[in-house]
Amino acid sequence: RTGGGETAKRHAGERAAEAVDDGDVVGLGTGSTAAHAIRALGRRVDAGLDVTGVATSFQSRELAREVGVPVTTLDDVGGVDVAIDGADQFDRETGALIKGGGAAHAREKVVDASADRFLVVADPTKAARGLDASVPVEVLPSARRPVEAALDDLGGEPTLRAAARKDGPVVTDNGNLVLDCAFGALANPDALAVDLSGVPGVVAHGLFVGLADAVLVGTEDGVERYDY
Ligand code: A5P
Repeated sequence: RTGGGETAKRHAGERAAEAVDDGDVVGLGTGSTAAHAIRALGRRVDAGLDVTGVATSFQSRELAREVGVPVTTLDDVGGVDVAIDGADQFDRETGALIKGGGAAHAREKVVDASADRFLVVADPTKAARGLDASVPVEVLPSARRPVEAALDDLGGEPTLRAAARKDGPVVTDNGNLVLDCAFGALANPDALAVDLSGVPGVVAHGLFVGLADAVLVGTEDGVERYDY
């Protein structure tokens, strides 16, 4: 998944990495934009910065190792000082996000919610007025059918996410399935987030409401910042 200008994503990632202080524990988000932040952090580590990362996915842990950012776990540290993570869509007014395009949203939400500061990195294609993208819902494999029925009752249209390069479904880093649920324009994301969290068998959904402290939107020439 690339899409959006790589230069814009790099600008956002680099700006977020600059916001990390010496000694910080940093949540390492997943996706192509967060990857730019991890690479930029690696360069700061080479230059002497003392940080430890908490990865939100297999992918972000591998990249952190490759670029020399030492990693620990939430079991060891309990929470992070700052989390840097991407988004599939964000509401410019409220900072509410839809995440999970890479099926990493369960661990992302745990790490991002544990942060003193949560910085979102995005390119301009992610900005929206309100939210209307499909909401990724990670489900226990054994709960797929009743969760599909519950999502239908909530007005959604769930589709099992298929793997791109294997026959069968996407299986998350946690061994679960993903239902991409189309709701159309979300009239009340806060209420939907609560409803989705209450469905038995839902491990995590991709609505991140009230979590982002700032969204850094990279452009071809710089970065626009929205604070919440
Ligand atoms: C991973 O599951 C997602 O939540 C990503 O953070 C999100 O899809 C953004 O990815 P890109 O920066 O690659 O668009």
